[in-house]
Amino acid sequence: MTKIKFIEADGKEHQVEAQEGQSVMQAAMDNLVPGIVAECGGFASCATCHGYVDEAWLKKLPPPDSAEEGMISCAYHVQPNSRLTCQIKVTPALDGLVVRLPVSQTSE
Ligand code: FES
Repeated sequence: MTKIKFIEADGKEHQVEAQEGQSVMQAAMDNLVPGIVAECGGFASCATCHGYVDEAWLKKLPPPDSAEEGMISCAYHVQPNSRLTCQIKVTPALDGLVVRLPVSQTSE
């Protein structure tokens, strides 16, 4: 199991156990982490699984492909470390990954 910590915009932390091969988004959904909506189910076409990957981890991830980059440009509250969590595959190397969540997945 790979441990992932999600931190809500208000600082509330959620430590979850993710399974290898699933997406970071799916790990959040399986554990009812608030703040990940995932309307499209993981097809990089909604941007409601947006999260901020902790800087220390950002360079350990494969870079976003063009589909992810395009969709992030449609997300709200984008920052330089914004990623779509549905496009990050869980591997043992991600044990300890920290993902912060935007204040909202909408314009609010
Ligand atoms: S779940 Fe829709 S873009 Fe990630």
